[in-house]
Amino acid sequence: MEVIIQPTADAASHVAARIFARQIRTKPTSVLGLATGSTPLGLYRELVSMHERAALDFAKVTTFNLDEYVGLGPDHPQSYAHFMREHLFSKINIAPSGTRIPDGLTRDIAAHCADYEQAIRDAGGIDLQLLGLGTDGHIGFNEPSSSLGSRTRLKTLTERTIADNARFFSSPSEVPRHVITMGVGTIMEARHCVVLAFGEKKAGAVAATVEGPVTASVPSSALQLHARCTLIIDEGAAGALERADYYRWVYNNKPEWQRA
Ligand code: GLP
Repeated sequence: MEVIIQPTADAASHVAARIFARQIRTKPTSVLGLATGSTPLGLYRELVSMHERAALDFAKVTTFNLDEYVGLGPDHPQSYAHFMREHLFSKINIAPSGTRIPDGLTRDIAAHCADYEQAIRDAGGIDLQLLGLGTDGHIGFNEPSSSLGSRTRLKTLTERTIADNARFFSSPSEVPRHVITMGVGTIMEARHCVVLAFGEKKAGAVAATVEGPVTASVPSSALQLHARCTLIIDEGAAGALERADYYRWVYNNKPEWQRA
């Protein structure tokens, strides 16, 4: 795993934005996997700005979001469909038909999940997958104990994730208990994964992701087995890494052609 430590979340978002922009410019029909939460907001702001000022063109891009709350429709203010419209899709020139998010109101969750997997395959697979990290090491909504080979399916949130995400709702009791999420196995098939994590509260999850054992108890640790995974973090999130100095040294000594 490549670990890139930047002084601030803004600087880290900037590095991630360059990776996404290069992907889209190199392959205008790119298939992107997208994430929600507070972590990607800086990246999305940069992509909007690159669209407005540098003609970054999303017209032929296809996106698949990682997850959605069961029971929330796309117009619910806390749904991830609403989040994506508000922070990215309404501000760039992506075709609405090119954006896919699991349907939190589907009546047949199993069939919907199978369709979602098929749609990813039909699109040619995900070129570049964005991930945030839960404080417990979840990716998407794959909570600890998720099978590392899992596919898109229903998951039940842990009490910790409900507490973490309650800040977006008026009370913890309003946070849905169930979600639809791409599986760890689905995520692992993306050609390139970019993971963002910011702040001291993510330091434990970051260390477990990079330097802990590969275990279903920390689903993000499966990324150690991914052939191309780039973790971009700020100093706060790097605080518990044993080899932080080595990762900095590697980044500072990269051959020019390898730089993001
Ligand atoms: C939710 C999302 C994850 C995200 C995580 C972290 O649980 N399903 O994809 O990575 O929140 O959220 P934040 O970025 O707000 O810390």
